[in-house]
Amino acid sequence: MPSHTAKSKITDLALLAGPAAFSEPLHVGRPSVGDRERFLERVNDMWDRRWFSNNGPYVREFEDKLRGFLGVKHCIPVCNGTIAMELAIRALDLKGEVIVPSFTFISAAHALQWQEITPVFCDIDPKTHNLDPQKIEAMITPRTTAIVGVHTWGRPCEVDALTRIARRNDLRLLFDAAHAFGCSHQGRAIANFGDAEVFSFHATKFFNTFEGGAVATNDDELAAKIRLMKNFGFQGNDNVIYIGTNGKMTEISAIMGLTGLESLDQIIQVNRQNYDLYRELLSGCSGLTMVTYDARERCNFQYIVFEVDESAIGLTRDDLVQLLTAENILARRYFFPGCHRMQPYRSFFPHAGLLLPETERLAGRVMSLPNGTAVGAADIQQVCGLVRFAIDHAAEIRAALQTRELALK
Ligand SMILES: Cc1ncc(COP(=O)(O)O)c(C=O)c1O
Repeated sequence: MPSHTAKSKITDLALLAGPAAFSEPLHVGRPSVGDRERFLERVNDMWDRRWFSNNGPYVREFEDKLRGFLGVKHCIPVCNGTIAMELAIRALDLKGEVIVPSFTFISAAHALQWQEITPVFCDIDPKTHNLDPQKIEAMITPRTTAIVGVHTWGRPCEVDALTRIARRNDLRLLFDAAHAFGCSHQGRAIANFGDAEVFSFHATKFFNTFEGGAVATNDDELAAKIRLMKNFGFQGNDNVIYIGTNGKMTEISAIMGLTGLESLDQIIQVNRQNYDLYRELLSGCSGLTMVTYDARERCNFQYIVFEVDESAIGLTRDDLVQLLTAENILARRYFFPGCHRMQPYRSFFPHAGLLLPETERLAGRVMSLPNGTAVGAADIQQVCGLVRFAIDHAAEIRAALQTRELALK
């Protein structure tokens, strides 16, 4: 809850020694949860059964429900989204090089590198924030085995163009759908595209199982392989037929998922209302551009993302994030600085940025603001009031920050 309301002068800002607007941190991804009683009923049942892991009844029920919800043949629950990606990569027998965006969370690059596959970073389209199909083919070499597209903010990649490129070049196609649970492309649920799509059900995601993830595919053979691989390669009790890992989802995670699924519509409704309120309250702020969603598609409205144009506002994205953080509003710079600027990739490819101008530009401009059922209208009014106040007093704030920076030197 906000603790202080209006700021009338710049020294009221917490960054400049005023009181913080929020007494408790307001997080970007505080979990949205289902009904507590239903969750506890199921936990009590699990407790009585003493069946906590190893493909228990709740994991099987969760898998059935996921399949039905997504309209996909297989949706295999696992312990997190990164392992889901590692399993899909391994089961598809990828090798050599794989094309992936740099403007994303680090896990897809790591899942590749972990298996000694080189992630080749391709630039994004500044309009969609997703892989730019026009730039992919120039990155293909004889060692390329696949493309990994990421449905950033839940906005589907250019699925059809990527599918055509993959077919034309005999490449596998995977999607990191960590942001896109509950979203659709041309009316069909994300889960059904490429060779496989990978979800994350991490606590910060729109739909969570504490930690968790899943691999969705319509390919029976691939699904069978992933099922074996996520359980050490066991076929039956005593027979191991592949190298595998421990990717199993626990019963308590599946219970969280089953309970969350029952509240999915309400969670989307709250996200949508919050999204609309942010849009209304910050509309007309020149220099702030909000990421929008295609009204013809299903969408989870989880991500409240703005691009900050420093030249129009007079403050950098980092100034705004710093200012909000001091107020206990934990705005995030997703995805700064881009995977290619993180280790080990920065050392492997020190000049990758030359081929990633849009990634570099966007990574310096994006700001994510809090959403989810833990965020109310009063919070959003307070956050937007602060952003507007900062923009209205940009020159004064910049001067004060400069004086402070000089004093600290
Ligand atoms: C785009 C993206 N992919 C993958 C992941 C990794 O998922 P997990 O944390 O479940 O391993 C995340 C975040 O957690 C993400 O934002």
